[in-house]
Amino acid sequence: MQRDGFKTRFGILAATLGSAVGLGNIWKFPYMTGENGGASFLLVYLLSTFLVGLPIMISELVLGRTAKANAITTYYQLPKKNKNFWSLIGIGGVAAAFLILAFYTDVAGWVYAYVYKTITANILSTSPEETSKTFGSLISTPLTSLFWQWLVLGVVGLIITMGASKGIERTTKKLMPLLFLFLVIIVVRSLTLPKAKEGLLFLFSPDFSKINAQVVLLAMGLAFFKLSIGMGTMTTYGSYFRDDANIPATATKVMLADLSVSLLAGLAIFPAVFTYGYEPQAGPSLLFITIPAIFASLPGGRIFMLLFFLLASFAATGAMLSLLEVPVAYFCESKKMSRTKATLLSIAILVVLGATATLSFNVLKDVKFFNLNFFDLYDFISSNILLPVGGLLIALFAGWTWGKEKIFTTLSNYNTLNNQKIISLYYFVLKYITPILVFIILLKGLKLF
Ligand code: PHE
Repeated sequence: MQRDGFKTRFGILAATLGSAVGLGNIWKFPYMTGENGGASFLLVYLLSTFLVGLPIMISELVLGRTAKANAITTYYQLPKKNKNFWSLIGIGGVAAAFLILAFYTDVAGWVYAYVYKTITANILSTSPEETSKTFGSLISTPLTSLFWQWLVLGVVGLIITMGASKGIERTTKKLMPLLFLFLVIIVVRSLTLPKAKEGLLFLFSPDFSKINAQVVLLAMGLAFFKLSIGMGTMTTYGSYFRDDANIPATATKVMLADLSVSLLAGLAIFPAVFTYGYEPQAGPSLLFITIPAIFASLPGGRIFMLLFFLLASFAATGAMLSLLEVPVAYFCESKKMSRTKATLLSIAILVVLGATATLSFNVLKDVKFFNLNFFDLYDFISSNILLPVGGLLIALFAGWTWGKEKIFTTLSNYNTLNNQKIISLYYFVLKYITPILVFIILLKGLKLF
């Protein structure tokens, strides 16, 4: 049987960008930048993206394409020695996919709910007390919040059963262009508000006093999360790449486009936050409490709010497809399940695991580990431990074990692309800079020394 894969150049770009762009840009990036000192956080995030994120992304894509296999099999098949050790990358990746999806589908459920609510009722209010009440009642009612999470799981599961080309590629090809269009409309509106300048100053002027080892780890964790790396997502997607795809170029385009979406989301949100006098440090609820209050003060606010939550739902969906594809591809190929069965099994696991995240805002709210509820725990373990550790191992494997020659032949598509200089630069950073940075930041950020 022939393996499914992405069919067109644009499809490869749309699917990969669809994985990278997600709630990370629209929900995490703005609130983390807001909480951790604006431009100085942005600077550390940018450095992590260039020196850590991009090299690992290129490595994952090329390893996946060479092995043409799911994440676990790729890291078992490619090494000549210590196969069991290296396949831990894939095993950790499947675990990370479930942990991330557990809380991600919860937030995506809130986004879907806000699309629905914006259409059917007027949930905009200039008073943050009112908008907090709306959000509070959504997350504190167990069955309502579970219902939205299950709806999300149903939608994503359905698309995944259709496969890489007919499911993932076809969906992201439609959603990505719309997402950009809606975002640009909102940014234009936001930048023409009276206090746009203060918002921009906040985003672009650095406050270095806020930077410490923990903040650096957060920024690096965000870079991993943003580019969907360190857990085999890009490995799995790479296995669907065509042999003539230019991997370094595609990865760079995806990284830059992803960065633009984050910055545009920042440009859409912060000018409005300042114009209407809200707190830029509102935390994870920024999106659901502050945004509706901001749009309420804006002429035509309901339409803008609908566009905003629609684009957030597109972003979240594309990212969840890539997360779910990690276990599904593994179950199909290694456990010989049908795609439908593999999807159903993964969804069943997520209904249970996801409920612990969703219920941590109501019935399970007093259950804490290291002072974190389930939701925050899954987020912390995945972004700040599993992805960086996975990324470190990927960098070590690609840079030190797999071999320079293989890297150069596969990334140049067997010398059909004239990109030796770019590969040399990538290889140098991957081998010497990426692993050292990840290692030090992990140890310092987790206070291990
Ligand atoms: N990159 C996605 C986002 O920013 C999240 C993601 C993480 C997707 C890891 C796949 C793997 O929302």
